[in-house]
Amino acid sequence: MAKLKKAFFCQNCGAEAAKWIGNCPNCGEWNTYVEEIIENKNTSSYSTKSKANNKAIPILEIEESKEIRYQSPDKEMNRVLGGGLVPGSLVLFGGEPGIGKSTLLLQIALQWSGIKIFYVSGEESNRQIKMRADRIGIKNSQCLLYTETSLQSILQQLDKENADVVIVDSIQTLNSSLIDSAAGSISQIRECAAQLMRFAKESNTPVFLIGHINKEGNIAGPKVLEHMVDVVLQFEGDRNHMYRLLRSTKNRFGPTNEIGIFEMQSNGLKQIDNPSDILISHREELLSGTAIATSMEGLRPLLIEIQSLVSTAAYGTPQRSTTGYDTKRLNMLLAVLEKRCGFKIGMKDVFLNIAGGLKVEDTALDLAVVVAILSSNEDIPIAQDIAFAAEIGLSGEIRPVNRIEQRILESNKLGFKRIFISKYNLKEIAHIKAAIDIVAVARIEEIYDNLFS
Ligand code: TYD
Ligand code: MG
Repeated sequence: MAKLKKAFFCQNCGAEAAKWIGNCPNCGEWNTYVEEIIENKNTSSYSTKSKANNKAIPILEIEESKEIRYQSPDKEMNRVLGGGLVPGSLVLFGGEPGIGKSTLLLQIALQWSGIKIFYVSGEESNRQIKMRADRIGIKNSQCLLYTETSLQSILQQLDKENADVVIVDSIQTLNSSLIDSAAGSISQIRECAAQLMRFAKESNTPVFLIGHINKEGNIAGPKVLEHMVDVVLQFEGDRNHMYRLLRSTKNRFGPTNEIGIFEMQSNGLKQIDNPSDILISHREELLSGTAIATSMEGLRPLLIEIQSLVSTAAYGTPQRSTTGYDTKRLNMLLAVLEKRCGFKIGMKDVFLNIAGGLKVEDTALDLAVVVAILSSNEDIPIAQDIAFAAEIGLSGEIRPVNRIEQRILESNKLGFKRIFISKYNLKEIAHIKAAIDIVAVARIEEIYDNLFS
């Protein structure tokens, strides 16, 4: 009988220990250690065999090959992958439960004609997936569905079927009979992903692995999978809103700064071609507390609406609450307003919301956030044709931002008449010829005088 080597692993962070311990010295969690097999003599014979005929060669002698890429039927997906799906690549597709991971990949599988797709589901029954496919409303006879959780059966089927693209929904439901621990444990996830990676590389078949994100925002607890796979895609958004953002956080075959934007509809996910236009509410009457920011999501400029509400605190401690924006950044901006500019909002509740349910992290939003807060505080609306693009420093100075030219051009394209930027960005845009009024400012007080007095 093969000899098994075992160790204890923290199920929260992946730390390893020779003996069971109650409190993880790495992440501080209690009762998270579980015994797992780390080496199985049955499987390790593979690696010694393959090592024998492998030899180091000078890098210059490696033949340059023009990479072929499969073009999936989804333009946004191809773009985020860096121009298509590379054969033999292992793509981890992560997101919170219910965000639409299964929907997007099933939809791509159904739309993809001319190749054979193998969709493995360990989560849902055949009938459930059929219902979803009916909702999406596309028929594809080349799309095979296999409901199974045993890794060995899946690999056997894959050997027989010779599929062109494989989708596994999800990695957390698979279990390998070589490992004792339950499906979803760290060693099962690691083992199943390693076997599927071996399959992908040997057969040159691209494999998508769906992975659920835990409450800390990591795929499968620790980042055990992220360094194994070639590409990590994240599907984000607010479940209560329709917009979803697809972005790559790691890509061995391309840049990681592209995003795709989708809208969840009753018949699947639809690509959005002009996101800025949709994220701004075109209202009839002017309302105080909103300002338009120009954000860069990857290489795409995106105009988004910042909504704010400032009101007198009902209870002793004022509340600061944000949706889609960093609360720490909001607190910093409020402190700057209070201390450097003398605006008295220390005893007020401040609520901030990014329209459309998107999460954005771009310091160029600062100015729009501050303007939205001031607008709500003063109860004076901002004209709908003004956009903002600048960062705010701790001393209240208005700082330059990157890619200012793209931000200005996008605002111009969408019909904005005026944009506020930092004075220190002016040099870069001297050559821009756009029918938009550019207002360069250096301090928050100037903005205040310009808009509210
Ligand atoms: P799902 O793909 O099951 O999420 P995940 O695999 O990430 O857990 O999608 C879940 C939600 O999407 C579900 O609440 C129903 C909704 N949905 C639509 O709104 N339209 C559709 O066409 C489909 C198939 C699902
Ligand atoms: Mg799912």
